[in-house]
Amino acid sequence: MMWKYIRRYLPYAILAAAFMVGEVSMDLIQPGIMSQIVDDGVLGLNTGGTGNLDLIWRLGLQMICLVLFGGLCGSLNNVFVHMSGQNIGNDMRKDCFRKIMTFSFPQIDRFGTGSLVTRMTNDITQVQNFISQFVRGMIRTTVLTFGSIYCMFRLSRVFGYVVLCVFPLIILVMAVCMKKSSSLFTKLQTQLDTVNSIMQEDVAGIRVIKACVRELYEKLRFGKANNELIQTQLRVLIIFAFMNPIVNALMYLAVAAILLVGNITVRAGGATPGNVMAAITYTTQLLNGLLMLVMLFQNITRGIASWKRVRVLLDSTPELADGEQAGETALRGSVEFQDVSFAYPDGQTVLEHIDLKLEPGETLALMGETGCGKTSLVSLIPRFYDVTGGAVLVDGVNVKEYRQTALRDKIAVALQKSELFSASVAENIAWGDPEAGEAAIRAAATVAQADSFIAQMPEGYQTLVAERGMSLSGGQKQRVSIARAVVKNAEILIFDDSTSALDLKTEADLYAALREANPHSTKIIVAQRIASARQADRIAVLENGHIIACGPHEELLASCPTYQAIYQSQMGEEDDHHE
Ligand SMILES: Nc1ncnc2c1ncn2[C@@H]1O[C@H](COP(=O)(O)OP(=O)(O)O)[C@@H](O)[C@H]1O
Ligand SMILES: [Mg+2]
Repeated sequence: MMWKYIRRYLPYAILAAAFMVGEVSMDLIQPGIMSQIVDDGVLGLNTGGTGNLDLIWRLGLQMICLVLFGGLCGSLNNVFVHMSGQNIGNDMRKDCFRKIMTFSFPQIDRFGTGSLVTRMTNDITQVQNFISQFVRGMIRTTVLTFGSIYCMFRLSRVFGYVVLCVFPLIILVMAVCMKKSSSLFTKLQTQLDTVNSIMQEDVAGIRVIKACVRELYEKLRFGKANNELIQTQLRVLIIFAFMNPIVNALMYLAVAAILLVGNITVRAGGATPGNVMAAITYTTQLLNGLLMLVMLFQNITRGIASWKRVRVLLDSTPELADGEQAGETALRGSVEFQDVSFAYPDGQTVLEHIDLKLEPGETLALMGETGCGKTSLVSLIPRFYDVTGGAVLVDGVNVKEYRQTALRDKIAVALQKSELFSASVAENIAWGDPEAGEAAIRAAATVAQADSFIAQMPEGYQTLVAERGMSLSGGQKQRVSIARAVVKNAEILIFDDSTSALDLKTEADLYAALREANPHSTKIIVAQRIASARQADRIAVLENGHIIACGPHEELLASCPTYQAIYQSQMGEEDDHHE
């Protein structure tokens, strides 16, 4: 799976690896030259004890060239490592974004926005680091480790044996630490999720927090989550803090051993002082390589933990299987619920045995107390959620048989919670139909009773809306959302409680304008007020997940006790309106 991403940038990775080998080779050649400078140039071991300044110059120059070449290789390695790492991360982020866009509502519910954001930001960064470190560090350490050991064997077999004895001990210490920390890394990411979720919720809802004077409470809640995160982070750091000195001690033990056996071998004529020096340099290089490996393993463990989380996102399949139906249907605007039952994935049954049929052009008002399932019922029509029993038919075809885009093209929804984007008012309305021209946008706004207040804004339709529509009042936001639904000119219009913040007069004007402008579209209006429901052709009353009555205003007023009760409670309002 990750290979799929790496493969695209494989040439970069291979170049990076090649330059890395170049860099390490220079590191490996140097101690050998150093040894020659000491033995032949300074001590003159082969020339009876007279040094050779010429040779020192020549070898010294050679060494400088090698250092420069090694440095150049290192820089180029870095360039290509980042080119592959950044590109891979970028591709992953794009794929994640695309995947999230295909998510069904239940999938979004399940992940939660905070977690989705963490996965797309922090987790992918970790994976990116992991890949960069892997290409850089893994090759460096491997070549350095085996190269050093090989070179030491070439210097003298005893030096080789000394390192080989210490090496497994070091690996053991590191393995223990890795094992102890790997579960902590997974925990770390989950805790980061929590911190991000709280942060996101609190920043988005900062106005509510201030209004309710909950700053202290939220500060504590955030602080607690943050502390837990830091605790875990500290535990990881402590593990590695103890590991470093142990590894160091083991390595210097090896250095001491080399000095000891070096002393004996040199005296026995098996090695030269330069050899001993070179052996010590190799040992310290090896140590640095291994310590780098530790850093690397931290990144790798963390990267793998993150990769698993990104993978869950990338691997999730779109839950709503697309149907085949894409073409025109014979009917336009009919909606039918056939014995529909519905429950949220983790919840209890919300709707049961719903039977309801709307003819094209009909207006249905949906009433019932909050939480009775009105939003859930209308969510089934555009297939935001799938029914758990029965079927929903749009234009005589089961919604599951439509291509989602084809189905949703037929339907315009003004959601209960109006969401606006940071763009101009005109753009926000045109969201409903990107092809809508200025005239169409204006016409839709006029129907939504928004034209007059938009015209009064400093820049009219070009006025920028603040993030989430914060610069507009609740009622203004609702009207812009309604305009967005109206401009779509769909055959089915769903208004989910979307006029709740309007005064009765504006609401009545809006519905009258809508009837006139879109006489042929089927309208489903979720309403709280009798005043907005009574103009509908039929009113359905929802109670305990069942439709207990459905008919015109007069009929329900005569026969449905629940409707009568709602009517009684709203009498005053009605009268105000008629005056
Ligand atoms: N995304 C969701 N996941 C789980 N349960 C939900 C979700 N949305 C709503 N519910 C539950 O379903 C029930 C009906 O909610 P809803 O349809 O929004 O009611 P209404 O729109 O009539 O006020 C409520 O009890 C609510 O708690
Ligand atoms: Mg609702």
